[in-house]
Amino acid sequence: MTRRWQIEHEFGLDHLAHSEGAPSEPGRGQIAVRIRACSLNYRDLLVVRGEYDPRMELPFVPLSDGAGEVVAIGRDVEEWKVGDRVIGCFAPKWQGGEPTKAMLRAARGAPPLGGMLRERVVADAEGWVRTPDHLSDEEAATLPCAAVTAWHALEGVRAGETVLVQGTGGVSIAALQLAQLKGARVIVTSSSAAKRERAEELGAWQVIDYVADPKWGKKVEALGGAHRVIEVGGAETINESLRAVRVGGQIAVIGILSGVKAQIALTKVLMNGVSLRGVMVGSREHFEQMNAAITAHELKPVVDRVFDFDEAPEAFAYLARGAHFGKVCLRLG
Ligand SMILES: NC(=O)c1ccc[n+]([C@@H]2O[C@H](COP(=O)([O-])OP(=O)(O)OC[C@H]3O[C@@H](n4cnc5c(N)ncnc54)[C@H](OP(=O)(O)O)[C@@H]3O)[C@@H](O)[C@H]2O)c1
Repeated sequence: MTRRWQIEHEFGLDHLAHSEGAPSEPGRGQIAVRIRACSLNYRDLLVVRGEYDPRMELPFVPLSDGAGEVVAIGRDVEEWKVGDRVIGCFAPKWQGGEPTKAMLRAARGAPPLGGMLRERVVADAEGWVRTPDHLSDEEAATLPCAAVTAWHALEGVRAGETVLVQGTGGVSIAALQLAQLKGARVIVTSSSAAKRERAEELGAWQVIDYVADPKWGKKVEALGGAHRVIEVGGAETINESLRAVRVGGQIAVIGILSGVKAQIALTKVLMNGVSLRGVMVGSREHFEQMNAAITAHELKPVVDRVFDFDEAPEAFAYLARGAHFGKVCLRLG
């Protein structure tokens, strides 16, 4: 039998239930992976609370991000062998190039694709990438959603440019690390003094308290502005991002932490030639390019805390409190 956590009959962190199922075997073109570690994303929290898709059919196994080891191979699979260390792709059908809507909708951790919060996952062989040798399974499990999104959002950033990241959650800390790897300097906004200090230890060029300084965009403007903004705040941050971005710069629209509906000053967009670019995670190709860079620089993702598999509800509650810096992970025995 293999263990899993699922949203059983009702949504909510209190209704996550532990269960066991018979292990399934890989069919043609598939592999079976023993999941060793998972990481949690803000989206997973929305899924479990029923805020992502209240009509989702239950029971459902959540979590988009998992890493582990190939334990069985189906027919016609040549790319993998038993024992290979692998990480699941967020949108497994998006292999590269421009995605279709269908490729974007088929993402792990929400219907139609079940999630990673289980010991064994059987899925198409094309939806995995090789784990960089220098990473633990927990570090590898931080990558599929947050880091690939950050990498994709940083496309085209050049050495010497300025990148602004909002807050110190999974996407933003990955963006801080990856932007520095590209030779950019990074401004970090955070509500916490301790987290601002940690961001400086990671190499942030400037840090700003966005609570004490709600007009933080002006501060960024005074520092010369940002060539690229990693916009995860949503409704409450987009207008400050428009102030913070340089002429000709780009705002990568990624997150909606403070809401989805905002009135924006279109004059700022057109007068300053600013691009607003929506970013949806990334393809397998993005993932592999990022892993090549991570490997070359032996970069280690920031793991805030690792919970045991049995503590999944506590891990979700911890993420919900927003006390984390970087990523929250689960270890599966
Ligand atoms: N488009 C995509 O493909 C994609 C992919 C991944 C994530 N996302 C979205 O991106 C957002 C962030 O995801 P995540 O997983 O990184 O979340 P997370 O790890 O939960 O990050 C939360 C952190 O964001 C900061 N924050 C919260 N409200 C803020 C605000 N109003 N202004 C600035 N910072 C704020 C806080 O940092 P401090 O404690 O330092 O203040 C908080 O700790 C979510 O909306 C998520 O759904 C989108």
